[in-house]
Formats: sequence, structure tokens, C-alpha cells
Amino acid sequence: MKLIDQSQVKTIAVLGTGLIGAGWTAWYLSRGFTVRASDADPKREAFLRNFVKEAWPLLKPLGMVANADPGRLTFHADPAEAARGSDFVQENVFERLDLKQNVLAAVDAVLPPDRVIASSTSSYPPSDLQAKCKHAERVVVGHPFNPPHLIPLVEVVGGRKTDPAAVDWSMAFYDGIGKKAILLKKEIVGHYVNRVQEAIFREMVHCVAEGIVSVEDADIGVAYGPGLRWAFMGPAFTYHMAGGPGGLAYSFDHFGPDIEKNWADLGNPKLTPELMKTFIEGTKAETGGKSYPELAAWRDQCLVAIQGALEQVAKKKG
Ligand SMILES: NC(=O)c1ccc[n+]([C@@H]2O[C@H](COP(=O)([O-])OP(=O)(O)OC[C@H]3O[C@@H](n4cnc5c(N)ncnc54)[C@H](O)[C@@H]3O)[C@@H](O)[C@H]2O)c1
Repeated sequence: MKLIDQSQVKTIAVLGTGLIGAGWTAWYLSRGFTVRASDADPKREAFLRNFVKEAWPLLKPLGMVANADPGRLTFHADPAEAARGSDFVQENVFERLDLKQNVLAAVDAVLPPDRVIASSTSSYPPSDLQAKCKHAERVVVGHPFNPPHLIPLVEVVGGRKTDPAAVDWSMAFYDGIGKKAILLKKEIVGHYVNRVQEAIFREMVHCVAEGIVSVEDADIGVAYGPGLRWAFMGPAFTYHMAGGPGGLAYSFDHFGPDIEKNWADLGNPKLTPELMKTFIEGTKAETGGKSYPELAAWRDQCLVAIQGALEQVAKKKG
């Protein structure tokens, strides 16, 4: 299939401007694009413009381009109207399959077939999303992480009807605008990264349920230990380093049997009302009484600071 040259992508339609759509909007504006945003709720326009205003100073140290302009934003009630004249679409409406299928089909009907349509869906495989589209070959999942304007990762996966060229195009597009794209070679429920997060959370819940750690210590145990390494190397790379000069082969030799033994012992807890109450009270204690906006501002500053520090290290390394 023929797809638009990436240097010609100037205007992006962002459909659904809740938490994720607003983050994408801020990111695309910071990269110099014009954004045609759409939300069924008219109140979202004021939310979106305020979100962009507040995000703007944070985006400057994250590689904002010189000609970026937060004013290059229009708001439309109708997703198809927003998509008309756009060069790429990022869909972020409520996580409901029928709704997403209908929005994608409406957009597909007005958009030239050489433009890619990406969905931010956290759970639906692209084969389901593209079901009602005439040009299903250009539909992919481009799954971001919250907040999408401050976390680089995007998971890209195509469906049964997606042309591999659309997947390749999306990978190159996200990487080219400062995101870090990873390719899922096959569809899987929940994609890849959330499954990993859920596996970690499952064991946390198990250890709290078994009375081994408090909720606070369960979180500290991840954030102050492996979490620090995970900002720049994944678990497999960490095991490679744990093997010293012998690398991962040494780690497998020495720790492999224990790792397998521990896997067999991992828990499979149920989120009982009592356990949920323990977690809700525990995380409430962790917040120190701070409000959601205060916590979000702190989280956002930390995300920018970590990326700035890693960039400094990379620069020194040359
Ligand atoms: N929240 C997260 O952490 C997260 C992370 C990654 C991906 N996602 C995915 O991103 C998508 C959006 O999630 P969110 O958390 O921003 O949800 P949200 O509820 O904050 O926002 C959804 C927005 O879609 C709008 N909407 C609903 N129907 C619409 C329509 N027909 N046309 C236009 N707009 C419409 C709603 O008014 C709302 O503003 C979902 O698919 C979700 O799975 C969420």
C-alpha cells in the first residue's frame, strides 16, 4: 500500500480528549504539528486548552521544536470533521469496542487511504477495532502510557487486516517524533507492557495478602530498588548485569534454577473487598494527604527530571 511521506505529515487528528487525548495533543503540538481535536463532550475544549497550557513548560526540556505553537489547535464536535484534512489520526475515545469501531469507521470513510489511523486502546486487539473500516489495512494500535506527553513509550501492533507497511510506517513515525516505539509482532489481549505491570502487581498483592509486606513497603520495594534501574534497562538486561562479566549466560547458570523455583511459588490472589480496602488505605497513607493535582504535578516533574538526567549521562558518554 502507498502511505503518505512522513515529511508531509503536518496535521494530526486527536479523537477523544480525556486524559490520554489531551496528553497526545500537547505532545503533537510540542513537535510542531497542527492538531484537530475532537470530543463528544463540549466541556472538553476548555479542559484541553488548559491542559496544553499547563503541560507546555514541561515539554520544553523534552525536545520541543523551535516552531511549536500551542495555538495551532482547533476543536471539533464531530470526529470525522476533525479527521478531514488530517495526515494521521490518534483515537482515544472511551474504552468501548462498539464506540471505537463506529468512530474509526466514520473517520475511515472521510480520510484518504494513504493516511494511518492509530488507536490508543489499552485492551482491544486491532483486528476487532478495524472490523467496520473499508480501508482496514491502515488501522493500527499505537498504545501510549499515561501521561502520554511525558512517557516516550508507544506499543505498535497491527491486526489481521493491517498491511505490514502501516505498522512499519507507524513505528518510524513515532520514533521520528521523539517517542520510543516497540513492535508487537502479534496481537495479544492487553498488549505487552500492561501484562508485565499486571504480573508485578499480582505478586505485590499476593505478598500483601500473605502478610509479608505492607502496601507502602511493597511500593517502596519496587520504586527504590529495581524501579531505579528500570528507568534505563529492562529486567533481562538487569539479569545480564547481575552475571558480571559472564553476563546473562552466567546468571542463567547460577540463578536459573532458583528463578524457576520462585516462579512456581508466585501467587494468584483474588482482589477481595478486604484486600482492596487494605490497598486503598495503604496508598492513601503514601500520598501524605496530597490532592490528585498536587500528586500529578509531582509525578510529571519527576518524569521530566529523570529523562533530563539520562540525557545528561548520554551526552557525557558522547
Ligand atoms: N488512562 C490511561 O492510563 C490509558 C493509558 C493508555 C491508553 N489508554 C486508552 O486511551 C483511551 C482513552 O482513555 P482516557 O483515560 O483518556 O479516557 P477518558 O475517559 O479520560 O477520555 C475519553 C474521552 O473520549 C470522549 N468521547 C467519548 N465518545 C466520543 C466520541 N464518540 N467522539 C469523540 N469523543 C468521544 C469522552 O468525552 C472523553 O473525553 C482508551 O482507549 C484507553 O484504553 C488509557
